[in-house]
Amino acid sequence: MEKKNIALITGVTGQDGSYLSEFLLDKGYEVHGIIRRSSVDYRERIAHLEGKPDFHLHYADMGDSMSLVKLVGKVQPTEIYNLAAQSHVQVSFDAPEFTADVDAVGVLRILEAVRTNHLEHSCRIYQASTSELYGKVEEVPQNEQTPFHPYSPYAVAKLYGYWIVKEYREAYDMFCCSGILFNHESERRGETFVTRKITLAAARIAQGKQEKLYLGNLSSLRDWGYAKDYVECMWLILQQEKPEDYVIATGVQHSVREFAYLAFKTAGMELEFRGEGINEKGVCVAGPAHLVGKTLVEVSEDFYRPTDVVNLLGDPSKAKNELGWNPQSTSFEQLVSIMVKHDMQKVAADHVAGVMRTNLAEYLEKGITK
Ligand code: NAP
Ligand code: GDD
Repeated sequence: MEKKNIALITGVTGQDGSYLSEFLLDKGYEVHGIIRRSSVDYRERIAHLEGKPDFHLHYADMGDSMSLVKLVGKVQPTEIYNLAAQSHVQVSFDAPEFTADVDAVGVLRILEAVRTNHLEHSCRIYQASTSELYGKVEEVPQNEQTPFHPYSPYAVAKLYGYWIVKEYREAYDMFCCSGILFNHESERRGETFVTRKITLAAARIAQGKQEKLYLGNLSSLRDWGYAKDYVECMWLILQQEKPEDYVIATGVQHSVREFAYLAFKTAGMELEFRGEGINEKGVCVAGPAHLVGKTLVEVSEDFYRPTDVVNLLGDPSKAKNELGWNPQSTSFEQLVSIMVKHDMQKVAADHVAGVMRTNLAEYLEKGITK
């Protein structure tokens, strides 16, 4: 009988972890995920997977070597996808030590857990690396040969992760690889990343639940793809004959301003951007009558970073040629549309739930019993 593929995913509750779990379960894998104890027991992105026979969750933490060693020994994975991270760049300026512990030393802990359990020649490891390594970019577009210049505590921590994976590959002949992924978004994206912040705000403003959106650097350029497409690459990277690192990107670049323009347009409001820098504003020039003429987007220094990465554009040629992956299967326009449509429905549903709660509260308050 053919041996079952067993995947262990760190960061299973995150955006990518949830899509990767679905992808691997569809491929017939037994999927194990690491969760950490939290005061809230509801895991929104994977709630629909919990209870499936091949989906298992275990408590552990990237900061706790012992828990990782024990878990790797218990699960005996054939593939590990190390996605767990403090993944917010701006937060890494506020919590640099925690970020280094999880995003840098955490990678080492996973590699050592595999060695300690003598799985170094049977278990393949994927490391979630990032385009943030290019940071203060030295060339555009960026490919696997572009020099790194990390530009935040997050990127510096991830650079350690990248190098320690390469080191273990060379020193111990382990099949461990980094996917250098450019930004990828979805309707499951965390709400403080710029794309989701914009699509949720556009939906709320369109439905009268929010007045204005405050953003930081509108001119920042990103290569945005769809997360669902990117998890396939993580798997493809581990199915190759030789362990190698790959840039995963769309090869198309847009500014934060362009993202906001299209998201608001999709939600029924046309914006015109006027002014510059901190004084730039997005004014509604077409759409619902009560919004026309109003400033819906403003810039706030609160969202500026001490050092900001402003020109990311990936060259996915290697992934396209060697993995056979299509970098353009979801266009920028489709991505924005998926996210805005989802958030328009979410905001409407939250509204209905809110009204129901209010009605129930009123009902109980009035002492009505039937
Ligand atoms: P995400 O939504 O922020 O998910 C991060 C995951 O890491 C969550 O499951 C989180 O658990 C877990 N985690 C954080 N600290 C942990 C700890 N100490 N122990 C165990 N688990 C911990 O991130 P994502 O967007 O899915 O990204 C996945 C990975 O790819 C990350 O490593 C990120 O840095 C990297 N990456 C992302 C992108 C992108 O554009 N999305 C691009 C390049 C690289 P909780 O739910 O408990 O917080
Ligand atoms: N978050 C946020 N909020 N970013 C803003 C805002 C705002 O209000 N206004 C402008 N920006 C700019 C940021 O300064 C940055 O230049 C850009 O929008 C993208 O910011 P994020 O969406 O927070 O993502 P990121 O590029 O910093 O990091 C994401 O992508 C990396 C890959 O390049 C994260 O997913 C990282 O984990 C990932 O490694």
